[in-house]
Amino acid sequence: MAVAVIGLVISSAANVEGRSSRNSDENLVASFIFGDSLSDAGNNNYFSTLSKADIPPNGIDFRASGGNPTGRYTNGRTIGDIVGEELGQPTFSVPFLAPNSTGKAILYGVNYASGGGGIMNATGRIFVNRLGMDVQVDYFNITRKQFDKLMGPSRAREYLMKKSIFSITVGSNDFLNNYLLPVLSIGARISETPDAFIDDLITHFRGQLIRLYQLDGRKFVVGNVGPIGCIPYQKTINQLNEDECVELPNNMARQYNAKLKDLLTQLNENLPGSTFVYANVYDLTMELITNYKQYGFKTASKACCGNGGRFAGIIPCGPTSSLCQERGKHVFWDPYHPSEAANLIIAKQLLDGNTKFISPMNLRQLRNLS
Ligand SMILES: *[C@@H]1O[C@H](CO)[C@@H](O)[C@H](O)[C@H]1NC(C)=O
Ligand SMILES: *[C@@H]1O[C@H](CO)[C@@H](O)[C@H](O)[C@H]1NC(C)=O
Ligand SMILES: *[C@@H]1O[C@H](CO)[C@@H](O)[C@H](O)[C@H]1NC(C)=O
Repeated sequence: MAVAVIGLVISSAANVEGRSSRNSDENLVASFIFGDSLSDAGNNNYFSTLSKADIPPNGIDFRASGGNPTGRYTNGRTIGDIVGEELGQPTFSVPFLAPNSTGKAILYGVNYASGGGGIMNATGRIFVNRLGMDVQVDYFNITRKQFDKLMGPSRAREYLMKKSIFSITVGSNDFLNNYLLPVLSIGARISETPDAFIDDLITHFRGQLIRLYQLDGRKFVVGNVGPIGCIPYQKTINQLNEDECVELPNNMARQYNAKLKDLLTQLNENLPGSTFVYANVYDLTMELITNYKQYGFKTASKACCGNGGRFAGIIPCGPTSSLCQERGKHVFWDPYHPSEAANLIIAKQLLDGNTKFISPMNLRQLRNLS
């Protein structure tokens, strides 16, 4: 039987000895991942786009590929990869557009995330092609039907509701590659105040999350928008000092995040049987950036791989980029994305941390909910 092959690790608080129990039907986990380049595991490899990470040295520390690029926008694993591994997923979720995302491979979960994608369809236009959230949910609807075929409708439903986690990390591009982009979005910025734009984002996102619920998603983790004013790209183009961040993007992110938190509370109250967990990526990343030395990093401002300006923050990571010596000592891998070392610290907090960073429960607790 297909399901029985899925291994798992029980690591609930009750399991203090750290024993693991494999092949028990109790704690299977499939991970369905949605969002942008923070989670993309290769979807953008399968269409033409200006947002790509299938070139070295991206993936240089990704063991499963022997250090070859996979389409991940970092040197190693993404936060979604690490969380899945820790929760007992036997393989990483396959990218929806990869040829091997068929048959039983999808039982461990599928990744729909796309570099450049956002909540709004217009977001990421600058990259020409990318998958926005509306399209990602359409794709999940295709996967949903495949589950009925693989397991039969009633077991499929049970499996998606109880044994699956839906992770969504999106929104950064709606600011960076839509509203705050000077040339392309000048129309939107003239016609919409920041408040109105943020309300629009929340309205669209609510609809997308409700569709996932209609398709039997019950356990959700939703990442808020990080401190996008502190990324090497912003520091470079605004010629900031090492310890400065750009105010407007950070302010917009915080304003959006407050409304996102309210949205998730509302959904928890109104969608029976659902659990929406709020992942405070903003505060987690800000903590790393502010106190980077305490976490063993040498810099939280300079990209490890990139080119341009003081922080290597203009040209994305590729074969001709300068590459840092100590990849584990940079908070940022490239002008936009955290390194695997930073992802490991963030993932650990999401898995086991307290309500300061992950609420109303952490991801191990979410996984163990029955
Ligand atoms: C699917 O293919 C990708 C690369 O194309 C590979 O990284 C991954 O391990 C494969 N996954 C499975 C479950 O076969
Ligand atoms: C976004 O695009 C998708 C697919 O092209 C479409 O189904 C959807 O209605 C669009 N959403 C909006 C808000 O225009
Ligand atoms: C899923 O697809 C079916 C058509 O195959 C459609 O009727 C249904 O509305 C879709 N569900 C969602 C939530 O998009």
